[in-house]
Amino acid sequence: MSALTKIGTFLLNDGTRIPRTAWGTGTALYKQDVTNVTALAIKNGLTHLDGAQVYANEDSLGAGIANSGVPRESLYIVTKLAALPAGQTVRETLVESLKKLRVDYVDLFLIHSPTQHRGGSDGKKTLQGVWKALEEAKADGLAKSIGVSNFMVQDLEDLLETATVVPSVNQIEFHAYLLDATRELVEYHKKKGIIIESYGGLTPLFRKTGGPVDAALQKIKTTYAGDSATDGQILIKWLHAKGIVAVTTTSKESRMKEILATETLPELTAEEVKAIDEAGSGQHHRTFWTNVLP
Ligand SMILES: NC(=O)c1ccc[n+]([C@@H]2O[C@H](COP(=O)([O-])OP(=O)(O)OC[C@H]3O[C@@H](n4cnc5c(N)ncnc54)[C@H](OP(=O)(O)O)[C@@H]3O)[C@@H](O)[C@H]2O)c1
Repeated sequence: MSALTKIGTFLLNDGTRIPRTAWGTGTALYKQDVTNVTALAIKNGLTHLDGAQVYANEDSLGAGIANSGVPRESLYIVTKLAALPAGQTVRETLVESLKKLRVDYVDLFLIHSPTQHRGGSDGKKTLQGVWKALEEAKADGLAKSIGVSNFMVQDLEDLLETATVVPSVNQIEFHAYLLDATRELVEYHKKKGIIIESYGGLTPLFRKTGGPVDAALQKIKTTYAGDSATDGQILIKWLHAKGIVAVTTTSKESRMKEILATETLPELTAEEVKAIDEAGSGQHHRTFWTNVLP
């Protein structure tokens, strides 16, 4: 496997393309200096970098990007809007992020969570105003694409009432043990042309072990054309088969190679995808944002 292997892409509703696997600087890397690990990820071909203002490591992400020596246009850089500090505009926080990231634009700018932008006497209007600011950032070229994260159907409906740009993506916790909880949301995305980005996609492997997906994975391994694929690779292929971007992370070079190698594995068959769907259905496990999401 060469780091020159290119990650496949999905077409977004604004005509741009998004690499279907991302390496993130949240969770385990939250508030860490990610300079070296970012350069390592890029060296290993993971060029879609999922950052966020709230991860408090955008400056070291920027340093890692600079140290990698890889041209800006070969990377896909994402950041997410945190709760707005008093007196600051969305644009000002984005400009600050760009400075830390040492780039002129991000490829994708997301509202991290709707709950952080529903303040004031009319929460819906506040959220709509924040989206308008993202639309302006896109129009001004500070972000090539714009989207949201952790939005439920009602949040999207509120936003779309006044939006002139439909979000390109919604980044949500998505894995086999959230199929029931996200069914309506997934359908809504299809109707509106919004791509799902999944975080927490490897949950069945280590956050909720001993569930029915374990046996489904073992069975798939007896039929799957990709010899010696790992459980993690099969779960990423399962997301890709659904047209979902896999946002994962690791600090280990061996796992970076494993993630990139997913690109050259054969697709899962419809039966193999269905086996994981059936194993996960009827189960429920959420790790993130449990205070606000069902
Ligand atoms: N929008 C949001 O609200 C939100 C929320 C959460 C996350 N995110 C984004 O999504 C990214 C990925 O998040 P995630 O942590 O949820 O991703 P994940 O893909 O579910 O898990 C990645 C973690 O799994 C570990 N791992 C991988 N394979 C494993 C295995 N076979 N056995 C045990 N552990 C294994 C890795 O540890 P090692 O380092 O040891 O390999 C890594 O810490 C974050 O960095 C962030 O960018 C966004």
